[in-house]
Amino acid sequence: DAAAAAAAEPASCPHAASRAHSLDAMPGPANWPLVGSLIQLLRKGGLTRQHEALVDYHKKFGKIFRMKLGSFESVHIGAPCLLEALYRKEGSYPQRLEIKPWKAYRDLRDEAYGLLILEGKDWQRVRSAFQQKLMKPTEVVKLDGKINEVLVDLVSRIGKINRKGKIDDLYFELNKWSFETICLVLYDKRFGLLQEKVNEEAMNFITAVKTMMSTFGMMMVTPVELHKSLNTRTWQDHTAAWDRIFSTAKVYIDKKLKRNSTRAPDDLIGDILQNSCLSKKELYAAITELQIGGVETTANSMLWAIFNLSRNPGAQKKLLEEIREVVPPDQDPCGEHIKSMPYLKACLKESMRLSPSVPFTSRTLDKDIVLGDYAIPKGTVLMINTHALGSNEEYFDDGKQFKPERWLRENTTINPFAHVPFGIGKRMCIGRRLAELQLQLAMCWLVRDFEIEMRICAQVFWMWWLKDDTSVSMALMVQ
Ligand code: HEM
Repeated sequence: DAAAAAAAEPASCPHAASRAHSLDAMPGPANWPLVGSLIQLLRKGGLTRQHEALVDYHKKFGKIFRMKLGSFESVHIGAPCLLEALYRKEGSYPQRLEIKPWKAYRDLRDEAYGLLILEGKDWQRVRSAFQQKLMKPTEVVKLDGKINEVLVDLVSRIGKINRKGKIDDLYFELNKWSFETICLVLYDKRFGLLQEKVNEEAMNFITAVKTMMSTFGMMMVTPVELHKSLNTRTWQDHTAAWDRIFSTAKVYIDKKLKRNSTRAPDDLIGDILQNSCLSKKELYAAITELQIGGVETTANSMLWAIFNLSRNPGAQKKLLEEIREVVPPDQDPCGEHIKSMPYLKACLKESMRLSPSVPFTSRTLDKDIVLGDYAIPKGTVLMINTHALGSNEEYFDDGKQFKPERWLRENTTINPFAHVPFGIGKRMCIGRRLAELQLQLAMCWLVRDFEIEMRICAQVFWMWWLKDDTSVSMALMVQ
Protein backbone atom coordinates (compact mmCIF):
# COMPACT_ATOMS: atom_id res chain seq x y z
CA ASP A 1 0.00 0.00 0.00
CA ALA A 2 0.91 3.69 0.05
CA ALA A 3 3.04 3.49 3.20
CA ALA A 4 5.06 0.51 1.96
CA ALA A 5 5.62 2.15 -1.42
CA ALA A 6 6.79 5.36 0.19
CA ALA A 7 9.27 3.50 2.36
CA ALA A 8 10.70 1.74 -0.71
CA GLU A 9 11.12 4.67 -3.06
CA PRO A 10 12.14 8.29 -2.67
CA ALA A 11 9.60 10.88 -3.79
CA SER A 12 10.16 12.12 -7.30
CA CYS A 13 7.51 14.66 -8.03
CA PRO A 14 7.48 16.39 -11.40
CA HIS A 15 5.80 19.28 -9.63
CA ALA A 16 8.50 19.67 -6.99
CA ALA A 17 9.51 23.26 -6.56
CA SER A 18 12.81 24.73 -7.55
CA ARG A 19 11.68 28.06 -6.06
CA ALA A 20 8.55 28.08 -3.92
CA HIS A 21 5.79 30.64 -4.55
CA SER A 22 3.67 32.07 -1.77
CA LEU A 23 0.13 30.82 -1.14
CA ASP A 24 -1.25 34.00 -2.74
CA ALA A 25 0.08 32.85 -6.12
CA MET A 26 -1.87 29.58 -5.96
CA PRO A 27 -4.77 29.34 -8.45
CA GLY A 28 -8.35 28.68 -7.38
CA PRO A 29 -11.98 29.59 -8.03
CA ALA A 30 -13.10 33.22 -7.74
CA ASN A 31 -12.88 34.46 -4.19
CA TRP A 32 -15.65 36.99 -3.50
CA PRO A 33 -15.78 39.13 -0.38
CA LEU A 34 -17.43 37.36 2.59
CA VAL A 35 -18.71 34.32 0.67
CA GLY A 36 -15.50 33.27 -1.11
CA SER A 37 -16.40 30.54 -3.64
CA LEU A 38 -19.57 29.45 -1.88
CA ILE A 39 -21.91 30.73 -4.59
CA GLN A 40 -20.01 28.94 -7.40
CA LEU A 41 -20.06 25.75 -5.34
CA LEU A 42 -23.80 26.07 -4.76
CA ARG A 43 -24.27 26.61 -8.51
CA LYS A 44 -22.36 23.39 -9.11
CA GLY A 45 -24.89 21.41 -7.05
CA GLY A 46 -24.14 22.46 -3.46
CA LEU A 47 -22.35 20.67 -0.65
CA THR A 48 -23.82 17.26 -1.54
CA ARG A 49 -22.17 17.41 -5.00
CA GLN A 50 -18.99 18.96 -3.63
CA HIS A 51 -16.83 15.97 -4.66
CA GLU A 52 -17.80 16.50 -8.31
CA ALA A 53 -17.11 20.23 -8.12
CA LEU A 54 -13.66 19.40 -6.77
CA VAL A 55 -12.95 17.13 -9.77
CA ASP A 56 -13.87 20.06 -12.07
CA TYR A 57 -11.69 22.47 -10.12
CA HIS A 58 -8.70 20.12 -10.31
CA LYS A 59 -9.21 19.89 -14.08
CA LYS A 60 -9.30 23.65 -14.30
CA PHE A 61 -6.64 24.69 -11.79
CA GLY A 62 -4.37 21.64 -11.69
CA LYS A 63 -3.00 19.37 -8.98
CA ILE A 64 -3.17 21.94 -6.20
CA PHE A 65 -5.52 24.87 -5.72
CA ARG A 66 -6.90 27.02 -2.94
CA MET A 67 -10.52 27.73 -2.15
CA LYS A 68 -12.38 29.84 0.38
CA LEU A 69 -15.90 28.98 1.57
CA GLY A 70 -17.11 31.84 3.72
CA SER A 71 -14.22 32.42 6.08
CA PHE A 72 -12.91 28.87 5.77
CA GLU A 73 -9.87 28.61 3.50
CA SER A 74 -8.28 25.36 2.38
CA VAL A 75 -5.71 24.03 -0.06
CA HIS A 76 -6.78 21.07 -2.21
CA ILE A 77 -4.46 18.27 -3.25
CA GLY A 78 -5.26 16.00 -6.20
CA ALA A 79 -1.92 14.45 -7.24
CA PRO A 80 -0.23 11.31 -5.86
CA CYS A 81 3.23 12.90 -5.88
CA LEU A 82 2.03 15.79 -3.71
CA LEU A 83 0.35 13.38 -1.36
CA GLU A 84 3.52 11.35 -1.11
CA ALA A 85 5.50 14.51 -0.38
CA LEU A 86 2.98 15.42 2.34
CA TYR A 87 3.23 11.93 3.79
CA ARG A 88 7.01 12.20 3.98
CA LYS A 89 6.79 15.52 5.80
CA GLU A 90 4.21 14.26 8.29
CA GLY A 91 5.11 14.94 11.92
CA SER A 92 4.51 12.65 14.90
CA TYR A 93 0.94 13.80 15.51
CA PRO A 94 -0.87 14.60 12.25
CA GLN A 95 -4.06 16.61 12.70
CA ARG A 96 -7.33 16.73 10.80
CA LEU A 97 -9.79 19.59 10.59
CA GLU A 98 -11.28 20.16 14.06
CA ILE A 99 -14.81 18.86 14.68
CA LYS A 100 -15.74 21.69 17.04
CA PRO A 101 -19.35 20.63 17.80
CA TRP A 102 -18.15 17.26 19.12
CA LYS A 103 -15.51 18.92 21.26
CA ALA A 104 -18.08 21.40 22.60
CA TYR A 105 -20.31 18.54 23.77
CA ARG A 106 -17.45 16.68 25.47
CA ASP A 107 -16.32 19.87 27.23
CA LEU A 108 -19.87 20.59 28.37
CA ARG A 109 -20.34 17.13 29.91
CA ASP A 110 -16.74 16.66 30.98
CA GLU A 111 -16.30 13.63 28.71
CA ALA A 112 -13.03 12.69 27.00
CA TYR A 113 -12.15 12.98 23.29
CA GLY A 114 -11.75 9.88 21.08
CA LEU A 115 -9.51 9.23 18.07
CA LEU A 116 -11.58 11.27 15.65
CA ILE A 117 -10.99 14.49 17.59
CA LEU A 118 -7.92 13.96 19.77
CA GLU A 119 -4.68 15.77 19.01
CA GLY A 120 -0.99 15.58 19.90
CA LYS A 121 0.43 13.19 22.44
CA ASP A 122 -3.00 12.24 23.81
CA TRP A 123 -4.05 11.12 20.33
CA GLN A 124 -0.92 9.01 20.00
CA ARG A 125 -1.42 7.39 23.41
CA VAL A 126 -5.01 6.37 22.64
CA ARG A 127 -4.13 5.36 19.07
CA SER A 128 -1.36 3.05 20.22
CA ALA A 129 -3.73 1.35 22.68
CA PHE A 130 -5.91 0.25 19.73
CA GLN A 131 -3.38 0.12 16.88
CA GLN A 132 -1.87 -3.33 17.46
CA LYS A 133 -5.16 -5.17 17.63
CA LEU A 134 -7.16 -3.25 15.06
CA MET A 135 -4.56 -2.74 12.34
CA LYS A 136 -3.02 -6.20 12.40
CA PRO A 137 -4.63 -8.50 9.79
CA THR A 138 -3.87 -11.65 11.85
CA GLU A 139 -5.84 -10.16 14.78
CA VAL A 140 -8.73 -8.76 12.76
CA VAL A 141 -9.26 -12.02 10.85
CA LYS A 142 -10.34 -13.55 14.19
CA LEU A 143 -13.49 -11.46 13.92
CA ASP A 144 -14.83 -13.35 10.88
CA GLY A 145 -17.16 -15.46 13.04
CA LYS A 146 -18.84 -12.38 14.52
CA ILE A 147 -19.07 -10.71 11.09
CA ASN A 148 -20.67 -13.86 9.65
CA GLU A 149 -23.16 -14.10 12.51
CA VAL A 150 -24.65 -10.77 11.40
CA LEU A 151 -24.34 -11.59 7.68
CA VAL A 152 -26.56 -14.68 8.18
CA ASP A 153 -29.20 -12.25 9.46
CA LEU A 154 -28.68 -9.82 6.57
CA VAL A 155 -29.12 -12.52 3.92
CA SER A 156 -32.20 -13.87 5.64
CA ARG A 157 -33.60 -10.34 6.03
CA ILE A 158 -33.15 -9.66 2.31
CA GLY A 159 -35.01 -12.90 1.63
CA LYS A 160 -37.90 -11.87 3.88
CA ILE A 161 -38.45 -8.19 3.33
CA ASN A 162 -38.74 -7.99 -0.42
CA ARG A 163 -42.31 -7.12 -1.21
CA LYS A 164 -43.27 -7.85 -4.79
CA GLY A 165 -39.58 -7.84 -5.57
CA LYS A 166 -38.73 -4.56 -3.83
CA ILE A 167 -36.88 -3.45 -0.75
CA ASP A 168 -37.91 0.07 0.12
CA ASP A 169 -34.72 1.34 1.62
CA LEU A 170 -31.61 -0.75 1.06
CA TYR A 171 -29.35 1.91 2.56
CA PHE A 172 -31.20 1.73 5.87
CA GLU A 173 -30.91 -2.07 5.90
CA LEU A 174 -27.17 -1.81 5.26
CA ASN A 175 -26.79 0.78 8.01
CA LYS A 176 -28.52 -1.57 10.43
CA TRP A 177 -26.19 -4.35 9.30
CA SER A 178 -23.02 -2.30 9.86
CA PHE A 179 -24.35 -0.96 13.18
CA GLU A 180 -25.16 -4.48 14.38
CA THR A 181 -21.70 -5.73 13.36
CA ILE A 182 -19.69 -2.96 15.02
CA CYS A 183 -21.77 -3.30 18.22
CA LEU A 184 -21.12 -7.04 18.30
CA VAL A 185 -17.39 -6.42 17.84
CA LEU A 186 -17.16 -3.62 20.40
CA TYR A 187 -19.68 -4.62 23.08
CA ASP A 188 -20.30 -8.33 22.43
CA LYS A 189 -23.93 -7.38 22.25
CA ARG A 190 -26.58 -8.29 19.67
CA PHE A 191 -29.17 -5.56 19.22
CA GLY A 192 -31.32 -7.55 16.78
CA LEU A 193 -31.55 -4.69 14.29
CA LEU A 194 -32.08 -7.08 11.39
CA GLN A 195 -34.97 -8.86 13.10
CA GLU A 196 -38.55 -8.14 12.13
CA LYS A 197 -39.30 -6.37 15.39
CA VAL A 198 -36.47 -4.13 16.45
CA ASN A 199 -36.45 -3.37 20.18
CA GLU A 200 -36.93 0.19 21.34
CA GLU A 201 -33.52 0.57 22.95
CA ALA A 202 -31.74 -0.38 19.71
CA MET A 203 -33.92 1.92 17.63
CA ASN A 204 -33.29 4.83 20.03
CA PHE A 205 -29.57 4.21 19.85
CA ILE A 206 -29.43 4.17 16.04
CA THR A 207 -31.73 7.21 15.83
CA ALA A 208 -29.48 9.11 18.24
CA VAL A 209 -26.43 8.41 16.06
CA LYS A 210 -28.39 9.59 13.00
CA THR A 211 -29.49 12.80 14.77
CA MET A 212 -25.97 13.52 16.03
CA MET A 213 -24.57 13.09 12.51
CA SER A 214 -27.26 15.22 10.88
CA THR A 215 -26.90 18.12 13.34
CA PHE A 216 -23.14 18.61 13.49
CA GLY A 217 -22.69 19.74 9.84
CA MET A 218 -24.57 23.00 10.45
CA MET A 219 -22.35 23.76 13.45
CA MET A 220 -19.23 23.13 11.37
CA VAL A 221 -20.11 26.04 9.07
CA THR A 222 -21.61 28.38 11.67
CA PRO A 223 -19.99 29.09 15.06
CA VAL A 224 -20.82 26.39 17.57
CA GLU A 225 -20.36 28.91 20.44
CA LEU A 226 -23.26 30.89 18.99
CA HIS A 227 -25.50 27.80 18.83
CA LYS A 228 -24.54 27.00 22.40
CA SER A 229 -25.16 30.46 23.78
CA LEU A 230 -28.49 30.84 21.92
CA ASN A 231 -29.36 27.25 22.83
CA THR A 232 -30.54 26.68 19.26
CA ARG A 233 -32.62 23.66 18.27
CA THR A 234 -29.59 22.23 16.46
CA TRP A 235 -27.47 22.47 19.63
CA GLN A 236 -30.24 20.96 21.79
CA ASP A 237 -30.78 18.03 19.41
CA HIS A 238 -27.06 17.46 19.05
CA THR A 239 -26.50 17.44 22.81
CA ALA A 240 -29.50 15.20 23.52
CA ALA A 241 -28.30 12.76 20.84
CA TRP A 242 -24.79 12.57 22.32
CA ASP A 243 -26.29 12.10 25.83
CA ARG A 244 -28.15 9.04 24.63
CA ILE A 245 -25.18 7.68 22.67
CA PHE A 246 -22.83 8.01 25.64
CA SER A 247 -25.26 6.65 28.23
CA THR A 248 -26.01 3.56 26.09
CA ALA A 249 -22.39 2.92 25.14
CA LYS A 250 -21.27 3.26 28.78
CA VAL A 251 -23.71 0.57 29.93
CA TYR A 252 -22.25 -1.94 27.45
CA ILE A 253 -18.63 -0.98 28.01
CA ASP A 254 -19.14 -1.34 31.79
CA LYS A 255 -20.69 -4.77 31.30
CA LYS A 256 -17.71 -5.81 29.22
CA LEU A 257 -15.25 -4.47 31.77
CA LYS A 258 -16.93 -6.55 34.49
CA ARG A 259 -16.63 -9.79 32.50
CA ASN A 260 -12.92 -9.84 33.04
CA SER A 261 -12.07 -13.53 33.43
CA THR A 262 -12.86 -15.88 30.53
CA ARG A 263 -12.42 -14.06 27.26
CA ALA A 264 -12.94 -15.61 23.83
CA PRO A 265 -10.00 -15.42 21.36
CA ASP A 266 -12.02 -13.04 19.13
CA ASP A 267 -12.55 -10.56 21.97
CA LEU A 268 -10.06 -7.96 20.71
CA ILE A 269 -11.76 -5.12 22.49
CA GLY A 270 -11.89 -7.03 25.80
CA ASP A 271 -8.16 -7.41 25.45
CA ILE A 272 -7.65 -3.70 24.87
CA LEU A 273 -9.99 -2.71 27.70
CA GLN A 274 -8.04 -4.77 30.16
CA ASN A 275 -4.50 -4.28 29.00
CA SER A 276 -4.38 -0.60 28.04
CA CYS A 277 -3.52 2.04 30.58
CA LEU A 278 -6.32 4.32 29.42
CA SER A 279 -8.74 5.71 31.98
CA LYS A 280 -12.37 4.60 31.94
CA LYS A 281 -13.37 8.02 30.65
CA GLU A 282 -10.92 7.71 27.74
CA LEU A 283 -12.18 4.22 26.93
CA TYR A 284 -15.79 5.42 26.82
CA ALA A 285 -14.92 8.15 24.31
CA ALA A 286 -12.59 6.03 22.18
CA ILE A 287 -14.98 3.08 21.87
CA THR A 288 -17.95 5.34 21.18
CA GLU A 289 -16.05 7.04 18.36
CA LEU A 290 -15.01 3.69 16.89
CA GLN A 291 -18.67 2.86 16.75
CA ILE A 292 -19.58 6.16 15.09
CA GLY A 293 -16.72 5.77 12.56
CA GLY A 294 -17.76 2.30 11.51
CA VAL A 295 -21.43 2.58 10.56
CA GLU A 296 -22.24 4.85 7.61
CA THR A 297 -18.79 4.50 6.03
CA THR A 298 -19.14 0.71 5.78
CA ALA A 299 -22.83 0.74 4.79
CA ASN A 300 -22.17 3.29 2.06
CA SER A 301 -19.20 1.35 0.67
CA MET A 302 -21.35 -1.79 0.57
CA LEU A 303 -24.11 0.03 -1.25
CA TRP A 304 -21.62 1.19 -3.88
CA ALA A 305 -20.14 -2.29 -4.21
CA ILE A 306 -23.65 -3.65 -4.89
CA PHE A 307 -24.24 -0.84 -7.39
CA ASN A 308 -20.95 -1.37 -9.23
CA LEU A 309 -21.42 -5.16 -9.42
CA SER A 310 -24.98 -4.71 -10.68
CA ARG A 311 -23.69 -2.58 -13.55
CA ASN A 312 -20.91 -5.02 -14.40
CA PRO A 313 -22.37 -8.51 -14.84
CA GLY A 314 -19.07 -9.77 -16.31
CA ALA A 315 -17.18 -8.88 -13.13
CA GLN A 316 -19.96 -10.30 -10.99
CA LYS A 317 -19.81 -13.60 -12.89
CA LYS A 318 -16.05 -13.79 -12.50
CA LEU A 319 -16.38 -13.05 -8.79
CA LEU A 320 -18.99 -15.80 -8.40
CA GLU A 321 -16.62 -18.23 -10.14
CA GLU A 322 -13.85 -17.31 -7.71
CA ILE A 323 -16.18 -17.70 -4.72
CA ARG A 324 -17.33 -21.14 -5.94
CA GLU A 325 -13.76 -22.21 -6.54
CA VAL A 326 -12.53 -21.18 -3.09
CA VAL A 327 -15.51 -21.64 -0.75
CA PRO A 328 -16.95 -25.17 -0.61
CA PRO A 329 -20.77 -25.03 -1.05
CA ASP A 330 -21.42 -26.42 2.44
CA GLN A 331 -19.20 -23.85 4.16
CA ASP A 332 -19.58 -20.20 5.13
CA PRO A 333 -17.02 -17.85 3.58
CA CYS A 334 -14.38 -17.01 6.21
CA GLY A 335 -11.21 -14.98 6.66
CA GLU A 336 -9.05 -17.90 5.53
CA HIS A 337 -10.95 -18.11 2.21
CA ILE A 338 -10.53 -14.39 1.56
CA LYS A 339 -6.74 -14.82 1.52
CA SER A 340 -7.10 -16.85 -1.70
CA MET A 341 -9.52 -14.49 -3.42
CA PRO A 342 -7.57 -11.83 -5.33
CA TYR A 343 -10.49 -10.98 -7.62
CA LEU A 344 -12.78 -10.28 -4.65
CA LYS A 345 -10.19 -7.90 -3.16
CA ALA A 346 -9.74 -6.23 -6.55
CA CYS A 347 -13.52 -5.74 -6.90
CA LEU A 348 -13.70 -4.00 -3.53
CA LYS A 349 -10.66 -1.83 -4.28
CA GLU A 350 -12.10 -0.85 -7.66
CA SER A 351 -15.48 -0.02 -6.14
CA MET A 352 -13.81 2.16 -3.50
CA ARG A 353 -11.75 3.90 -6.20
CA LEU A 354 -14.75 4.73 -8.36
CA SER A 355 -17.06 5.55 -5.48
CA PRO A 356 -15.22 6.21 -2.20
CA SER A 357 -17.62 6.60 0.72
CA VAL A 358 -15.38 9.29 2.24
CA PRO A 359 -14.51 11.54 -0.73
CA PHE A 360 -11.86 13.55 1.09
CA THR A 361 -9.98 13.85 4.35
CA SER A 362 -7.92 16.72 5.72
CA ARG A 363 -4.72 17.73 7.47
CA THR A 364 -4.04 20.87 9.46
CA LEU A 365 -0.35 21.69 9.07
CA ASP A 366 1.59 21.85 12.35
CA LYS A 367 4.60 23.45 10.61
CA ASP A 368 5.45 25.43 7.45
CA ILE A 369 6.08 23.15 4.48
CA VAL A 370 6.87 23.39 0.77
CA LEU A 371 4.52 21.36 -1.37
CA GLY A 372 4.92 21.30 -5.14
CA ASP A 373 5.61 24.89 -6.14
CA TYR A 374 4.25 26.51 -3.00
CA ALA A 375 5.36 27.47 0.47
CA ILE A 376 2.40 26.62 2.70
CA PRO A 377 2.27 28.09 6.20
CA LYS A 378 1.58 26.31 9.48
CA GLY A 379 -2.12 26.20 10.33
CA THR A 380 -3.26 25.77 6.70
CA VAL A 381 -5.95 23.13 6.17
CA LEU A 382 -5.06 20.73 3.35
CA MET A 383 -7.86 18.74 1.74
CA ILE A 384 -6.82 15.33 0.37
CA ASN A 385 -9.25 14.75 -2.49
CA THR A 386 -9.61 10.98 -2.62
CA HIS A 387 -12.47 11.06 -5.12
CA ALA A 388 -10.67 13.43 -7.49
CA LEU A 389 -7.55 11.22 -7.37
CA GLY A 390 -9.50 8.02 -8.08
CA SER A 391 -11.40 9.47 -11.01
CA ASN A 392 -8.40 11.08 -12.73
CA GLU A 393 -7.63 9.52 -16.14
CA GLU A 394 -4.00 10.47 -15.69
CA TYR A 395 -3.68 7.92 -12.89
CA PHE A 396 -6.32 5.38 -14.00
CA ASP A 397 -6.74 4.43 -17.68
CA ASP A 398 -10.37 4.24 -18.63
CA GLY A 399 -11.05 5.61 -15.17
CA LYS A 400 -14.84 5.80 -15.48
CA GLN A 401 -15.05 2.04 -16.03
CA PHE A 402 -15.25 -0.59 -13.28
CA LYS A 403 -12.22 -2.75 -14.06
CA PRO A 404 -11.08 -4.88 -11.11
CA GLU A 405 -8.42 -6.41 -13.40
CA ARG A 406 -6.41 -3.18 -13.26
CA TRP A 407 -5.36 -4.11 -9.70
CA LEU A 408 -4.22 -7.59 -10.71
CA ARG A 409 -1.87 -6.75 -13.56
CA GLU A 410 1.71 -7.74 -13.08
CA ASN A 411 4.02 -4.72 -13.01
CA THR A 412 1.08 -2.40 -12.40
CA THR A 413 1.90 1.26 -12.83
CA ILE A 414 -0.80 2.47 -10.43
CA ASN A 415 0.71 4.88 -7.93
CA PRO A 416 -0.38 3.73 -4.43
CA PHE A 417 -0.90 7.37 -3.42
CA ALA A 418 -3.60 7.64 -6.12
CA HIS A 419 -5.83 5.29 -4.12
CA VAL A 420 -6.36 6.43 -0.54
CA PRO A 421 -9.99 5.67 0.49
CA PHE A 422 -8.90 5.15 4.11
CA GLY A 423 -6.59 8.17 4.24
CA ILE A 424 -2.81 8.14 4.66
CA GLY A 425 0.00 7.82 7.16
CA LYS A 426 -0.12 7.61 10.94
CA ARG A 427 -3.65 8.95 11.10
CA MET A 428 -5.21 6.68 8.51
CA CYS A 429 -8.49 4.93 9.35
CA ILE A 430 -7.94 2.58 12.27
CA GLY A 431 -11.00 0.53 11.28
CA ARG A 432 -9.65 -0.16 7.79
CA ARG A 433 -8.83 -3.85 8.27
CA LEU A 434 -12.13 -4.53 9.99
CA ALA A 435 -14.10 -2.68 7.30
CA GLU A 436 -12.30 -4.50 4.49
CA LEU A 437 -12.95 -7.91 6.02
CA GLN A 438 -16.57 -7.04 6.69
CA LEU A 439 -17.13 -5.81 3.13
CA GLN A 440 -15.27 -8.70 1.51
CA LEU A 441 -17.26 -11.27 3.48
CA ALA A 442 -20.53 -9.46 2.73
CA MET A 443 -19.70 -9.46 -1.01
CA CYS A 444 -19.05 -13.22 -0.80
CA TRP A 445 -22.38 -13.93 0.90
CA LEU A 446 -24.43 -11.68 -1.37
CA VAL A 447 -22.83 -12.67 -4.69
CA ARG A 448 -22.99 -16.35 -3.77
CA ASP A 449 -26.68 -16.20 -2.88
CA PHE A 450 -28.02 -13.57 -5.27
CA GLU A 451 -27.56 -12.34 -8.78
CA ILE A 452 -27.50 -8.57 -8.61
CA GLU A 453 -28.97 -6.99 -11.68
CA MET A 454 -29.80 -3.39 -12.44
CA ARG A 455 -33.17 -2.68 -14.02
CA ILE A 456 -35.36 0.26 -14.96
CA CYS A 457 -33.23 3.07 -13.59
CA ALA A 458 -30.01 3.62 -11.69
CA GLN A 459 -31.83 3.40 -8.39
CA VAL A 460 -33.29 -0.07 -8.66
CA PHE A 461 -31.37 -3.32 -8.28
CA TRP A 462 -32.71 -6.79 -8.86
CA MET A 463 -31.29 -9.63 -6.91
CA TRP A 464 -32.06 -13.15 -8.07
CA TRP A 465 -32.04 -15.80 -5.40
CA LEU A 466 -29.53 -18.29 -6.78
CA LYS A 467 -30.07 -21.09 -4.30
CA ASP A 468 -33.64 -21.58 -5.41
CA ASP A 469 -34.48 -23.14 -8.76
CA THR A 470 -37.61 -21.05 -9.00
CA SER A 471 -35.55 -17.82 -8.80
CA VAL A 472 -37.16 -15.32 -6.51
CA SER A 473 -36.51 -11.84 -7.86
CA MET A 474 -35.83 -8.86 -5.71
CA ALA A 475 -35.45 -5.25 -6.55
CA LEU A 476 -33.55 -3.24 -4.00
CA MET A 477 -34.51 0.39 -3.89
CA VAL A 478 -31.67 2.69 -3.06
CA GLN A 479 -32.49 5.98 -1.47
C1 HEM B 1 -10.61 7.72 10.13
C2 HEM B 1 -12.58 6.02 6.01
C3 HEM B 1 -14.49 2.29 8.48
C4 HEM B 1 -12.99 4.26 12.63
C5 HEM B 1 -10.96 7.55 8.80
C6 HEM B 1 -10.51 8.38 7.72
C7 HEM B 1 -11.05 7.92 6.57
C8 HEM B 1 -11.86 6.77 6.92
C9 HEM B 1 -10.86 8.48 5.17
C10 HEM B 1 -9.57 9.60 7.84
C11 HEM B 1 -8.16 9.09 7.69
C12 HEM B 1 -7.13 10.18 7.50
O1 HEM B 1 -7.40 11.32 7.87
O2 HEM B 1 -6.05 9.89 6.95
C13 HEM B 1 -13.29 4.88 6.34
C14 HEM B 1 -13.98 4.05 5.39
C15 HEM B 1 -14.52 2.99 6.08
C16 HEM B 1 -14.16 3.18 7.47
C17 HEM B 1 -14.07 4.33 3.90
C18 HEM B 1 -15.34 1.85 5.60
C19 HEM B 1 -15.34 1.38 4.37
C20 HEM B 1 -14.20 2.47 9.80
C21 HEM B 1 -14.52 1.53 10.87
C22 HEM B 1 -14.12 2.10 12.04
C23 HEM B 1 -13.51 3.39 11.72
C24 HEM B 1 -15.18 0.17 10.68
C25 HEM B 1 -14.20 1.56 13.45
C26 HEM B 1 -13.81 0.36 13.77
C27 HEM B 1 -12.22 5.37 12.29
C28 HEM B 1 -11.54 6.20 13.28
C29 HEM B 1 -10.84 7.17 12.57
C30 HEM B 1 -11.11 6.94 11.16
C31 HEM B 1 -11.62 6.05 14.81
C32 HEM B 1 -9.92 8.24 13.16
C33 HEM B 1 -8.52 7.65 13.26
C34 HEM B 1 -7.48 8.61 13.84
O3 HEM B 1 -7.59 9.81 13.62
O4 HEM B 1 -6.55 8.10 14.50
N1 HEM B 1 -11.78 6.56 8.30
N2 HEM B 1 -13.43 4.33 7.58
N3 HEM B 1 -13.57 3.57 10.35
N4 HEM B 1 -11.94 5.84 11.04
FE1 HEM B 1 -12.60 5.03 9.31
